[in-house]
Amino acid sequence: MISTPDGVIDVQGRSGALGGPADQARLRELRSNAAVVLVGAGTARSENYGPPSKPGLRIAVVTQSCALDFSSPLFTSGAGMVATTVTAPQVPVDSLRAGDTSVDIAGIIAQLPHGIVHVEGGPQLNAALFAADCVDAINLTVSPRVGGFRGPSLSGAPHALRQFTLASVQTNGNFVFVRYEKI
Ligand SMILES: NC(=O)c1ccc[n+]([C@@H]2O[C@H](COP(=O)([O-])OP(=O)(O)OC[C@H]3O[C@@H](n4cnc5c(N)ncnc54)[C@H](OP(=O)(O)O)[C@@H]3O)[C@@H](O)[C@H]2O)c1
Repeated sequence: MISTPDGVIDVQGRSGALGGPADQARLRELRSNAAVVLVGAGTARSENYGPPSKPGLRIAVVTQSCALDFSSPLFTSGAGMVATTVTAPQVPVDSLRAGDTSVDIAGIIAQLPHGIVHVEGGPQLNAALFAADCVDAINLTVSPRVGGFRGPSLSGAPHALRQFTLASVQTNGNFVFVRYEKI
């Protein structure tokens, strides 16, 4: 996630205004190490997610409704897949299913390709992951901008307080890249 110092994570529904080339380079670096990307449907929709530049990288979109644009390049490219419940509607792309009335996020993760699962938000998905204790590390970019419309950056719902340890701090221009790891 990228966040301003005051906890804003998007400006009118898009996070791009908070970042820039340094932040985009960091995202590419994180994706280069990932086996798969996991993202909430709200983020995929509002950020108009497309196929990743890394060949073969799949993007799993977590959704309850399955109300996604399957004619978009994310899905027609074959990169996109759906992560949802066993009772959700059929979809015309690959789907992973776990949970009956709500998505069993740990059950979804168990079906993902082995390796690093790179989560790209947004707040609702982050909250579900913390609630299920599925977060091993947090990569947070602090944007040198203040303003916008919403926060907080890492969750949209209450979850237990958990302790992480500071693993690294890097800078590029005015951006700070912080990595926390689970103790
Ligand atoms: N600053 C950043 O780094 C950053 C990163 C990501 C997103 N954002 C911002 O966050 C905003 C989107 O926020 P959002 O609240 O919509 O978050 P979100 O978590 O991306 O999307 C919420 C939607 O995703 C699905 N979803 C997420 N978790 C789920 C779960 N555990 N089980 C079932 N479905 C789940 C549901 O989709 P359905 O409605 O289809 O069921 C839900 O309505 C955008 O404005 C974006 O710009 C910022």
